[in-house]
Amino acid sequence: MFDPFSIAELLKRHGQEHLLAGVASLDDATRSTFLRRVAEIDWEEMTHHAEPPPLGEVGASRVVTMDERARRRAALVAAGEAAYRAGAVAVLMVAGGQGTRLGSSAPKGCFQVAPHSGKSIYQLQAEKVLSLSRRIGRPVAFLVMTSPMTDEETREFFQAHGYFGLAVDQVRFFSQGTVPSLDQQGRALLSAPGKLLENPDGHGGCFTALVKSGNLARLAKDGVKHLVYIQVDNLLAPVDDAELVGLATAEKTDVITKVLEKANPDEKVGHLVNVGGRDRIVEYTEVTPEQARSRNAAGELIYRWGSPAMHCWSIDFLAYLDTKGYKIPLHRSGKPLKALVEGALTEVKGWKSERFIFDLLPEATVSIGIAIDRDAEFAPVKNATATNGKANVDSPATAVALAHAQYVAWLAAAGVKLSLPTNARIEISPLYAATREQFLAKWDKRVTELSGDYYLEG
Ligand code: UTP
Repeated sequence: MFDPFSIAELLKRHGQEHLLAGVASLDDATRSTFLRRVAEIDWEEMTHHAEPPPLGEVGASRVVTMDERARRRAALVAAGEAAYRAGAVAVLMVAGGQGTRLGSSAPKGCFQVAPHSGKSIYQLQAEKVLSLSRRIGRPVAFLVMTSPMTDEETREFFQAHGYFGLAVDQVRFFSQGTVPSLDQQGRALLSAPGKLLENPDGHGGCFTALVKSGNLARLAKDGVKHLVYIQVDNLLAPVDDAELVGLATAEKTDVITKVLEKANPDEKVGHLVNVGGRDRIVEYTEVTPEQARSRNAAGELIYRWGSPAMHCWSIDFLAYLDTKGYKIPLHRSGKPLKALVEGALTEVKGWKSERFIFDLLPEATVSIGIAIDRDAEFAPVKNATATNGKANVDSPATAVALAHAQYVAWLAAAGVKLSLPTNARIEISPLYAATREQFLAKWDKRVTELSGDYYLEG
């Protein structure tokens, strides 16, 4: 039970006493919900915003390069395969956030993106887990993090589509938390009388939410050791990745971060580097153009490896952080917000605070990177396709084009003669093959030439 006097005291201490103005005129139920929410917020945390630590001595993280991967591939795949088959791997997909850039009011995952089948992003991601589960002969747990804004719609969407063939108990939804959005003076805002304006607490919210929802404990109890982490908006993010899991097993990693060689020194990505003996993701905003272009004695870019936000987390490591009471810090970014000002919803400039999952990296004792082929694993959907059909950067159109190019490459590698018009749509369902190797192993030469659209289902 909360005590109104201690709430007033708490808010005063953190410069938030304005929130109590108007509380007396709220109806009982609204007032009590409002005060309960206000009382549970960590206002102290809201006043401390993580500033990037000084960079100091920046060195290279240990990264398993493509060459090293080729040398170790057979052993790693065998180890990863054994882990999958032993039930030691689960998949975590973060699907919260607000998807403001995509501009759809529905969750990003509901977006119908597949060019031929019209499948949604959720369906494509879920079918990867289904395809993996079928391949190894056991259900792989699929954890889906929503936000309070996307939770209901996401659950209904999965239910309406029969969980895309997955078992109901295999799909575990849990919602991330929210944090108050602040005005430029750091004061919390309202979205309605008796309702704080809040935003989802970032993909890093998945750590606390995994714990709070009981999912981390359940995974540990079920003997899961490795959590393959993907973001819903990367169409090509693999979940059937024995080499990745094998590396986690072989090197007993706390975390593996997939990395790609930057397309050019100025590419706007977070970088995996080692600072003072600990791995860290340094955002492109944190480095000057000179730093971004600087090279080590071997002539390699220091900020060489970009992070496309795919990881493999050790469950033991996450459980250890939980026992330590670790909390991922909040970062602020300036955003336009819609808040209640003098009784009317008004656009104001303010701050959203978010946690980033990669802030867990410096906590890891064993952290390594693994280089990936960008074209094979990274097709982000961030921005809307322009209304004239033009492919804006990282839009559904560019992501679909990347997926198309991948399928074309698979068919070509299988010996299919291709003479495709530029607008041809090639789509291969994850239920037919989720990886190039699977495709080549399964391909039955059902066509030898292609000159137009082609769709292959499971
Ligand atoms: P983005 O950083 O692109 O954010 O998320 P967003 O909310 O999807 O889109 P914008 O920035 O508002 O346009 C990267 C990934 O992290 C997840 C998203 O679902 C996406 O898979 N995410 C982001 C969360 O799960 N929760 C968040 O609070 C933010």
